[in-house]
Amino acid sequence: MADIIKKYISKATSVLNANWTGAYTLPASGLYPHQWNWDSGFIAIGYAHINTQRAIKELTSLFNGQWKNGMVPQIVFNKDKLGNYFPEPDFWQTENSPNAPEGILTSGITMPPIHAVAALRISENARDNKDVKPFLKWIYPRLLSLHRYFYRERDPEGQGLVYIRHPWESGMDNSPMWDLVLKRLDMSSLKVPPYERKDLASGVRPEERPAREDYDRFVYLVDLFRRLKYDEELISKESPFLVYGPLFNAILSASNEALIRIGEILKERTDEAEEWEGLTKKAISEKLYQPEGGIFNFYDIREKKLLDVDSAAGFMPLFGGAATKEQALKLYDYLNSQSFCALHQGNCFTVPNYDTRKEDYDRTNYWRGPVWININWMLMQGLRRYGFKQKADAIAKDILELPVRFGFREYFDSFDGRGYGAHNFSWSAALFIDTAYDNYLDVGTQAPGKRIKKILWRDIILNESGGKSEMPLGIISQNMLAAIREINSNYCSKCGSVDYGAIRHSKEYEEYRRITAKLKELDLAAVKEEHQKLAFWINIYNTIVIDRIICVGIRRSVKEVTGFFSKIKYDIGGYRFSANDIEHGILRANSRPPLGGLKQFKPMDPRRQFVLQRIDPRIHFTLVCGSRSCAPINFYTETGIYDELEVAATNFINSSEVIIIPEEKRVIISLIFSWYKKDFGGIEGVLAFIEKYIVDDDKRELLKKNKDKIHLDYLYYNWNLNE
Ligand code: GLC
Repeated sequence: MADIIKKYISKATSVLNANWTGAYTLPASGLYPHQWNWDSGFIAIGYAHINTQRAIKELTSLFNGQWKNGMVPQIVFNKDKLGNYFPEPDFWQTENSPNAPEGILTSGITMPPIHAVAALRISENARDNKDVKPFLKWIYPRLLSLHRYFYRERDPEGQGLVYIRHPWESGMDNSPMWDLVLKRLDMSSLKVPPYERKDLASGVRPEERPAREDYDRFVYLVDLFRRLKYDEELISKESPFLVYGPLFNAILSASNEALIRIGEILKERTDEAEEWEGLTKKAISEKLYQPEGGIFNFYDIREKKLLDVDSAAGFMPLFGGAATKEQALKLYDYLNSQSFCALHQGNCFTVPNYDTRKEDYDRTNYWRGPVWININWMLMQGLRRYGFKQKADAIAKDILELPVRFGFREYFDSFDGRGYGAHNFSWSAALFIDTAYDNYLDVGTQAPGKRIKKILWRDIILNESGGKSEMPLGIISQNMLAAIREINSNYCSKCGSVDYGAIRHSKEYEEYRRITAKLKELDLAAVKEEHQKLAFWINIYNTIVIDRIICVGIRRSVKEVTGFFSKIKYDIGGYRFSANDIEHGILRANSRPPLGGLKQFKPMDPRRQFVLQRIDPRIHFTLVCGSRSCAPINFYTETGIYDELEVAATNFINSSEVIIIPEEKRVIISLIFSWYKKDFGGIEGVLAFIEKYIVDDDKRELLKKNKDKIHLDYLYYNWNLNE
């Protein structure tokens, strides 16, 4: 991992260290002096990479506060630090519930159950494995008990949707989503016990926090619950606030999946969780989706209807895997519009928590507009799982950039990035760490000696077999490209990642293999013009790489096979081409490979007749080397190639491969720019190129005005497979 990223990770680690109490991590000191439920889940996800023990302790401490009915409380109080927060145990009075744990003080509501996801992440990312299995064994029955509580007590219709009974249970306390329900509470006739807010005394500006009218309603609900002694049945009859939310249920869905996985690791039966998983996904997709709006909304149980309020929560079924393919495409369109900050819109940070075009969007106030790192993080995971790589990469960039530029704040302005709320906020730090590891830790080069499985000494010709076909020569190239297009649109979509497993068994791949056998007979001289060559060879390169990954059986990284780019070849038009031949020979106008050596084609090499006249550096953002750090896969057309190259360059320059910190005059970029700087006209050319394609004004200005004062750092290349 690049040193500069390590440096920022260590800043994030210092935030967590400062908030660490010995048993758990405060969300932020001052404003939040106790342990919070979903915060601990996100915090554990960050710790998983750097401190396994702490990750485990974090969740253990939270689950020590689990109620006897399975509920995991929203807050576990620190007995020694009472008096600085409201509401605290004296107000909650949970001791009146037979379900409250003994000897541990907690609140009487819950929060989105991210814990199984976190526990699984600990087991996947742990540095130190020895305690992981015992921890999984310890937490598994507790996680089951939590999910059982939800389906038993909070799913009145047995349909797989779980309700929340207080806005604080959503995690998005004062989101505009709750306004319609809360406004129904006529506060002139309802009694709110006297109370004193403590959040405003912590130094955060009142306009960044919930309003008084909201708080009265929050407190009214808590008072109702304590009067009902936290009896779930009575609450479900009496609470005016009962909603099925897309955020809560999507997180539950992701956790059901994680629970199944943990069960498998422990070799336990998983049927119960499998049933929940199916039920909840189906219910979210069928009951919470608003086809007209193309987004998920929450369902108001009292009014028996879906309420039309569009917040970032509405995209969360992507995270829970609950959206159908059609729904996901609709969600993508809305998420990727000006409402929520579109790709390359410029001067905005994804994802604002509320539709920025709505009248009541509020850029500074808590859950009524700003960008939150945890929501971003879940959306990034969701977008990746549905294959929307470009958007996921753009979000990754913001998760990394916002805290580095504006501090590890609680939430951020979607337009200028300014930080709001608490300083040194733990989950912003923890999820920064996870995102940095996820994007920049390179399994391929991390321990090359251990990982390389195969060395190819001799050439492998992938299209050697495959008998004669009746296909006329003239249309081989056309059919080949059509087959590539089919594979691309069905398994790679417009979004950039590749579903290798599905391709391997597909009829499209079978067809592709059949046509590749005919490539030998192709008349390459017919591909004459520069634009034709560009599209043809880029497409061939990309598809051949996919084919190689499948044929050679790559599992995690193309680095598993030495010779991957040089020894695996295709016979095209009677000539053999490796990936390097196509890239450095043809597309880079017969140049030297980046790490030195001779020009790709020697003087008498007959393949020289096919090379391009000049290098277009934008090709570097189209060539898919089968790894996370390279360009997303796409299909390029002869007629549109130059526009498509523009889009490819813009995508790349505005992704997590180019991080610009104007405040430090620092530009952190992919190693591609170092390897191929010559193609861009040297380092100056690289910076000019970035200046041309970057969409944010302040970054463009920085590059324009500080040409010789820029600190340039390189990100290590992520060779993980681009699945
Ligand atoms: C606020 C947030 C909630 C978070 C808590 C502690 O209440 O709305 O999501 O868990 O602070 O950070």
